[in-house]
Amino acid sequence: MTKVLVATEKPFAKAAVDQIEAVVKEAGFDFALLEKYADKAELLDAVKDASALIVRSDKVTSEVVEAAKELKIVVRAGAGYDNLDLDACTANDVVAMNTPGQNSNAVAELAFGMMIAMARNAYNGTAGTELRGKKIGIHAYGNVGLYVAKIAQGMGMEVYAFDPFVSAEKIKADGVTPVDSVEELYSTCQYVSLHIPATPQTKESINFDLLSKMPKGGVLVNTARKEVIHEADMIKLMNEREDFCYISDIAPDNKNDFAPFGGRFFFTPKKMGAQTAEANINAGVAAANQIVDFIKNGNTTFKVNK
Ligand code: 3PG
Repeated sequence: MTKVLVATEKPFAKAAVDQIEAVVKEAGFDFALLEKYADKAELLDAVKDASALIVRSDKVTSEVVEAAKELKIVVRAGAGYDNLDLDACTANDVVAMNTPGQNSNAVAELAFGMMIAMARNAYNGTAGTELRGKKIGIHAYGNVGLYVAKIAQGMGMEVYAFDPFVSAEKIKADGVTPVDSVEELYSTCQYVSLHIPATPQTKESINFDLLSKMPKGGVLVNTARKEVIHEADMIKLMNEREDFCYISDIAPDNKNDFAPFGGRFFFTPKKMGAQTAEANINAGVAAANQIVDFIKNGNTTFKVNK
C-alpha cells in the first residue's frame, strides 16, 4: 500500500485537494487528508503509515520523520523549505522536495495589495500616495522577485534588484536595473520587497544598519519569512523614524511592540501570500505529480536534501 498524506494545518482550497486526490488515485495510490490539525500528536499519528507526505508551512521535524516509518518522500508544496528538517530526512532515507515557482504569482500580487493598502492609508478617507514613479528594490531576484518586477513595471515604478546569484545581464534583460550591493539597493529605493530565503546566513540579516539606509518614506514589504528580520532593530528604527513603514505577510514574534506605530505597520494574521485557489492548485498538484514521478520513475529533479 502506498499512502499519500496531505497534512496541511492551513488547508488548500477544496479544488486543489480534489485535484491532488485525483492525481494520487490515478497513479493507483491511497489518498489521505489531515487538515487544520490542532496539535503535533495528530500529525504524528497520521504519518505513521504514509509513504509520501505533502505539506505547506507545516513543521516536518525529526520527530515527525521518525514517526513516519514508511516515509519515502516529503514535498513542501511551495517554495521555502525551512520548515523541513533536511538532516532528519537524509538520515532516514527520505527524499525532500519543494515546488519552486508554483505559488510565486500569488505572493507577488499580495505584496502589491499590501503596498497599495499602506500607500492609501488603509482606505481611511485621507489622501494617500501612488506607486507610479517610485523606486522599488527587489531583494533576491528569484521566482517571486520576477513577478514583482513585472507588476511593478506595469504600475510605472522604477525597478531595481540585488541578487548575488543572478547575473546582471539576466536582470537587465528583464528591464530591471541591477545594483552591486544590498546596501545600494536599500539606499536607492523607497520600497524594498524582500524575497530571500530563511537560512542561518540570512537570519536577522535585515537589521538597523541596512534599514536605516532607506530614503524618507521607506517601506519594507516582507512576503518572505519573519526570521530574516532583526525584530528588535525594526522596532528601534520605527521608533526613531516616524516616516518608516513595515508591511509583513506574517505576524512578528512580539506583535504588541508594534502597536504604538499606528498605521505604519501591517501584518497578515496568517501567512497569506500563497493562499489563493490558483497557487494551491499549482503547488499541490505539482507536489502530487512529483511524488508519483519519484515513486514510479525515481525522478529526483526537485530534491533539496543531500
Ligand atoms: C512558500 O514558501 O511557498 C510560501 O511561504 C507559502 O507558504 P504556505 O504554503 O504556508 O502558504
